[in-house]
Amino acid sequence: MTTATFPIQDYALLDDDECAARIVAAKEKLGDRCVILGHHYQRDEVFKHADYYGDSLKLSRDAAASDAEYIVFCGVHFMAEVADILSRPEQIAILPDMAAGCSMADMANLIKVNKCWQELSRVLDPDVTVTPVTYINSAADLKAFCGRHEGIVCTSSNARKILEWSFDRRGKVLFFPDQHLGRNTGYDMGIPLAEMVVWDFDKPQGGLTEAQIRDAKIILWKGFCSVHQMFKPEHIDRFLERYPETQVISHPEASFEVCRKSDYVGSTEYIIKVVREAPAGSRWLVGTELNLVNRLNEQCKEQDKHIHFMSPTVCMCSTMFRTDPQHLAWVLENLAAGHVVNRIEVPEKEAASAKKALDSMLSIH
Ligand code: 13P
Ligand code: SF4
Repeated sequence: MTTATFPIQDYALLDDDECAARIVAAKEKLGDRCVILGHHYQRDEVFKHADYYGDSLKLSRDAAASDAEYIVFCGVHFMAEVADILSRPEQIAILPDMAAGCSMADMANLIKVNKCWQELSRVLDPDVTVTPVTYINSAADLKAFCGRHEGIVCTSSNARKILEWSFDRRGKVLFFPDQHLGRNTGYDMGIPLAEMVVWDFDKPQGGLTEAQIRDAKIILWKGFCSVHQMFKPEHIDRFLERYPETQVISHPEASFEVCRKSDYVGSTEYIIKVVREAPAGSRWLVGTELNLVNRLNEQCKEQDKHIHFMSPTVCMCSTMFRTDPQHLAWVLENLAAGHVVNRIEVPEKEAASAKKALDSMLSIH
C-alpha cells in the first residue's frame, strides 16, 4: 500500500455538498477504473454515488463480475472481503472506513468455531455428519473454515436453497453466526423448533447435552443482529390495532416471533421489490434498517404508499453509517492521485478456501 497523499483529517470538516462535488469529480477522473458498490443500508449521501447497489448476494455477484481495477465497497468489512476474494488478484477492494464492521459477524470467530467443531467431534463425526454453513455476515477465516470442511456460505436471499444443498450432503447443519436466519429458514423448510438447538459458545459443549446434539437437525450459533433484534412482535400488534389493513414485511435476521407475524420475510433486495410492486395506496410496516425504510418511503410516496418503520425507537446500523461522504471523497481522491488507501486484502491461503465456499454458494441459483 502506498502512503496517502491526502490525509483523512483534511476531509473531516468538509460539508456533504462539497464532498459530493469532489466525489463526482474524482469518479469522473477514474472512469472505468473504479466501481462503487453500495449496500441498501447506506445513507443517501453515500448511496447516490453507487454504480451498483443491492443486497449481499447481488453485490457479491457484481463484485465477481466487475472488471474495474478498484472496487470501492460502501458497506461493511465482510462485504469488502468478499469483493477481494471473488475479484481477480490484480483488482483492489477498498472499504472507505475501516471501522465499518458488523457486530453480528464479530459474534463468531475462528477460535470459537474450531472449539465447537472439536466439541462436536466428541459426540459425532462432524466431518461426516455436519455441513458448516456460514452466513455471509462473517469474517473471511470462517468462510475459509467452511471451504475446508465441505461447507458453504449463504445470504439472506438464498439461505433456503443453501440449507437444501447442505442437507443433500450431510444430515446436520452447523449454522453461524446468526441464529435467527438459521431458525427462520429451517422452520420454513418444515424443521420443527425442537430440532434446532442453540450453541452457546460461552458454555462447555455449547450448553447442550449429547442427546440434544445427536437429535438436532440444525445447530444454531448464538449470534444475532443488534439492529434487527430491536423489532418486537408487540410493535406489530400495536400497529395493526391502529391500521389493520397493513402488510408486514421483515428481514430474516429479525426474531422468529417477528417473522411469524410478518406477511413477507426476505432480504433487503426482496423487501424493496415487494413493496415497490405493491398496489398504490397500500400500507407497509417494515422490519429492517432505517436508511432503507426511509429511502423506500421517499421512492413510494408518489404512489401514495404508506411505509412505516417497525420499531418506535430509531435503530440504524451504526457501522453501515460509518461510511460517510467524507471517507468516500478521501478514498476516491487518493485513488485518482494514484494512492491506494484502506485496501482490504484477505491472505492468499485463507482466500482460496473461502472462495471455495463462496463459489459453491454462487453456483446455486
Ligand atoms: P442483505 O443481504 O439482505 O442485504 O442483508 C445484509 C445485512 O447485513 C442485513 O442486516
Ligand atoms: Fe451487521 Fe446487523 Fe448491520 Fe447487517 S444490520 S451489517 S447484520 S450489524
